[in-house]
Amino acid sequence: MIRSVDQVQIEGRRVLVRVDFNCPLEGGKVADDTRIRAALPTIRHALKARAKVVVVSHLGRPKGEPDPRFSLEPVGLKLAELLQADVVLADDCVGDGARKVVSDLYGGRIAMLENLRFNPGEKGRSEKFAAELASFGDVYVNDAFGVSHRGDASVALLPRLLEERCAGFNTMKELEALGRLLGDVKRPYTAILGGAKISDKIKVVQAQLEHIDTLIVGGAMANTFLAARGHSMGRSLVDEDSFVHARVVIEESRRRSVRILLPVDLVVSGGPEDGACEIVSVDGVPDDKMALDVGPVTLEAFSAEIEKAGTIFWNGPMGLFERSPFDAGTVAVAEAVGRSVSFSVVGGGDSVAAIKQSRLESRFDHISTGGGASLALVGGQEMPGLMALED
Ligand code: 3PG
Repeated sequence: MIRSVDQVQIEGRRVLVRVDFNCPLEGGKVADDTRIRAALPTIRHALKARAKVVVVSHLGRPKGEPDPRFSLEPVGLKLAELLQADVVLADDCVGDGARKVVSDLYGGRIAMLENLRFNPGEKGRSEKFAAELASFGDVYVNDAFGVSHRGDASVALLPRLLEERCAGFNTMKELEALGRLLGDVKRPYTAILGGAKISDKIKVVQAQLEHIDTLIVGGAMANTFLAARGHSMGRSLVDEDSFVHARVVIEESRRRSVRILLPVDLVVSGGPEDGACEIVSVDGVPDDKMALDVGPVTLEAFSAEIEKAGTIFWNGPMGLFERSPFDAGTVAVAEAVGRSVSFSVVGGGDSVAAIKQSRLESRFDHISTGGGASLALVGGQEMPGLMALED
């Protein structure tokens, strides 16, 4: 059983809150504060209980050593602004400086340590590193759902080293909403998958086939499926190592009578910077062009399927969403989900950004703060960060 932070005695104790403040930065500032806002209820709850709150997070993928590009400083400033409270920032996540920051904390005050991934012990799953972090707290709170599919030291080892462990309000909310997709769902259940992290996702898709009725594939994920089926994809992003998995997904869905919808037409261009684009059939991708979005005929078929779904899980964009005009497919899918009367859940930075851009947030039942994590959970994968919270 996983306890929620409001079921644990935290008054006056040192509370170590693992958050996922892996926010996009632009010009040294936080470009999207969604993940910070998501952790505010837990942090406020702990501050109100006069706990000594120590916030820890990763940011980006530094290589186990300090890298100013990934400093949490701008995130700490944003947190202070949102909380309207002082946040003491330590310049490391362990060592004398961090220890002093923590030992100087009063009840009802908050400190944030520097990026956990500046230390090789975080990704290296070091017991020693976890023990150093454990010396800063009495209670561990996981409000970092987005990284709970990882076995990193602060996620999977640290919880067991503190006196008590629990989930924050954001993690509890994620478990409740995503958990609904694992139970009796309203049918048809449609999964929409896209994005470029193909090898990360494709095995999870395989596991998901046992729950869903329809699989819609777009984005670079679809390029790989199309290439695995023998289509020539020109210079499109394709993951050849995933061909075998793509073929298994196609065969397995046939066996389970899961309908697969792949693009039939694509928007192709000379490259992301090349404004000139054309629409071609999947059989006509020129050798010197790359697919950067799904085409209009595809979108019509995708939208029709989406609108009749009872349950929708969406992860990953349909094209190069961050660059107009290649965002059209992703925005159209967001609008179709918005029109449907399904129970709809979306995860993953780009899909969520598309929903926000189209101001469709209120049309979704749950917007997950985790991309890979939400996919792992609904695909029935192991979640080391959640397992470590079990009492
Ligand atoms: C995410 O952005 O999905 C989480 O913060 C996990 O980040 P990671 O994929 O670098 O582990």
